Amino acid sequence: MAESKIKTIGVLTSGGDAPGMNAAIRAVVRRGLSNGLNVKGIYKGYNGLLNEEIIDMTARDVSDTIQRGGTVLYTARCAEFRTLDGQQRGAEVCRKHGIEGLVVIGGDGSFAGAQKLAEQGINTIGVPGTIDLDIACTEYTIGFDTAVNTAMEAIDKVRDTSTSHERCSIIEVMGRNAGYLALWCGIANGAEDILIPEKYDYDEQKIINNIITNRKLGKKHHIIINAEGIGHSEAMAKRIEAATGIETRATILGHMQRGGSPTCKDRVYASMMGAMAVDLLVQGKTCRVVGYRHGEYVDFDIDEALSMKKSISEYQWEVCNSLSHNYDKNGKPARK
Ligand code: ADP
Ligand code: F6P
Repeated sequence: MAESKIKTIGVLTSGGDAPGMNAAIRAVVRRGLSNGLNVKGIYKGYNGLLNEEIIDMTARDVSDTIQRGGTVLYTARCAEFRTLDGQQRGAEVCRKHGIEGLVVIGGDGSFAGAQKLAEQGINTIGVPGTIDLDIACTEYTIGFDTAVNTAMEAIDKVRDTSTSHERCSIIEVMGRNAGYLALWCGIANGAEDILIPEKYDYDEQKIINNIITNRKLGKKHHIIINAEGIGHSEAMAKRIEAATGIETRATILGHMQRGGSPTCKDRVYASMMGAMAVDLLVQGKTCRVVGYRHGEYVDFDIDEALSMKKSISEYQWEVCNSLSHNYDKNGKPARK
């Protein structure tokens, strides 16, 4: 390994937790130690930084964590860090504890914080950790794979009871303003309707017509995956039941989607990204975000990463819709 000018690095998790964050922390700690660095863990995101909740980390401190959901460093949201005063104090705390480089594991908001800290002279690297998959510079975010599998399994279970009772089910999945979790579940669960903020036209009558058509064609259930960004699933269920005469239930999956043991994919990608963040610090880089694109681990300037836009693939959306069509006895799609 190349000799590093940096002697001490820190790591924190910020924003919503995501399965796989522990694998990323573990990689930062062990990659850092193997580069001869001191590694400090900062509890509770930027809050813990401002409150100096900082510990020295050894390789043993991250033993038995790779398989655990959540984050052993805890996480938080911190309003004070949005202010210049908070950012300056954060940098002072880093200097006081000898932290010259900081790995921030979180979403876009956490990266904005890392960028501000870099402006105050602390080398920072962001690692994308969010179940929402809504970070534009990367095709992969830590936690998405586990969360989407958790949601998929839960939706399969709702579908069983929905079929038995010949009901319509509206299942709301997380994602904040992004529809990736809903879209992936929609395809993986074979949902009849998928509502995502990026595409929904709020034409509820179309959904109602679809339910009625499907019922006439003999479908026993009707699964609607509704993204959190649209929300109001309970009210929607009441309106749909009134309009169709078909019993309709809403299920909001909620925070169970954020927990649980990370999948192999989340553990491996998180380990790679955590290690790469340390490598970038060792190379003297700052204000970068690690990402995964076109089959490779890459890094971007944080400003550039934050200015990028992400959109739903038109092809994926079109395929998703074509697969959710019902077919009449002649094999023709029952709706367009
Ligand atoms: P995520 O990182 O998952 O997007 P948030 O948007 O809640 O989550 O951001 C996490 C934390 O990052 C915030 O509570 C705040 O401390 C910090 N943060 C967010 N935006 C900014 C900003 N513009 N400037 C400085 N810090 C920020
Ligand atoms: O960003 C992750 C996420 O779980 C979103 O999907 C959701 O909108 C939000 O966090 C919920 O945040 P909280 O845990 O503060 O309710």
